[in-house]
Amino acid sequence: FRFLYYLVVVWLVSASDAKNCSEPPSVDNSIFVMHEVEGQALGTYFCLQGYHLVGKKTLSCNAFQDWDTPTPTCHLGHCPDPVLFNGEFNSSGPVNVNDKVTFQCVDHYILKGSSWSQCQENHTWVPPFPICQSEDCGPPENPTHGYFEGHDFNSGSNITFYCEKKYHLVGTQHQQCVNGEWSSALPVCEPAPKTEFEKALLAFQENKNLCQATESFMQRLKESGLILEELKYSLEMKKAELVAKTLL
Ligand SMILES: *[C@@H]1O[C@H](CO)[C@@H](O)[C@H](O)[C@H]1NC(C)=O
Ligand SMILES: *[C@@H]1O[C@H](CO)[C@@H](O)[C@H](O)[C@H]1NC(C)=O
Ligand SMILES: *[C@@H]1O[C@H](CO)[C@@H](O)[C@H](O)[C@H]1NC(C)=O
Ligand SMILES: *[C@@H]1O[C@H](CO)[C@@H](O)[C@H](O)[C@H]1NC(C)=O
Repeated sequence: FRFLYYLVVVWLVSASDAKNCSEPPSVDNSIFVMHEVEGQALGTYFCLQGYHLVGKKTLSCNAFQDWDTPTPTCHLGHCPDPVLFNGEFNSSGPVNVNDKVTFQCVDHYILKGSSWSQCQENHTWVPPFPICQSEDCGPPENPTHGYFEGHDFNSGSNITFYCEKKYHLVGTQHQQCVNGEWSSALPVCEPAPKTEFEKALLAFQENKNLCQATESFMQRLKESGLILEELKYSLEMKKAELVAKTLL
């Protein structure tokens, strides 16, 4: 290792207030470049080849002519070390520019993203690192006004969704866990459509004219082929209620 101290301050700014700024904090293995944006003096640290930056790259010169903190640092390795939870990659030690690394997940995990990445000139990895996703699904959330049945949520398991009374299921009822995801979008429970009787009764209740309401209610029941007998009682009650109201 050669621990060379590199600090090259490049003055790109001619404005007089930028020159008033204090000396920028030194960062090992970096080049400091000063520039000006809309009258504001800024300074950017660039790590040398073989090092990558950790922290905030660009600092500004504040009202007290001091540079913001904290100062970044340049760490060994042209790009940051690869990371992959629940997986492995074939790289150890500091990364050099153009190094290529390949990724693999441990058992029961599935690779999502690219299986390789390369360290670029600009100290970044392209394409971005993949992730290792568990092939198990875990329990889904109960739908609002519904529930599911099933005990296993690992790969290949099946679950079935149900809705409470007066709600009906919209979507796929039977789902299978496939590679960490349920086979389709989870279903929802929506209010069930009203029966013909409920619709007729609603229209009856909303109609202010009792005679007309009764007439059209009977008409609707007849049209929809509903049998009146079992509804008579509630209708009588409703009628009595309305009459009482009219008399008050
Ligand atoms: C910078 O310093 C010069 C000379 O010392 C002074 O005239 C000027 O006002 C200073 N600028 C600021 C922004 O403080
Ligand atoms: C990782 O493996 C790939 C494919 O075998 C190879 O191209 C690459 O150079 C390896 N990288 C390292 C850092 O060994
Ligand atoms: C770094 O360089 C690569 C390849 O040239 C490019 O795709 C990527 O967008 C660059 N990243 C940044 C942050 O500039
Ligand atoms: C889940 O359902 C699928 C198709 O309906 C079937 O092939 C599979 O065996 C079931 N899995 C389990 C664990 O019961």
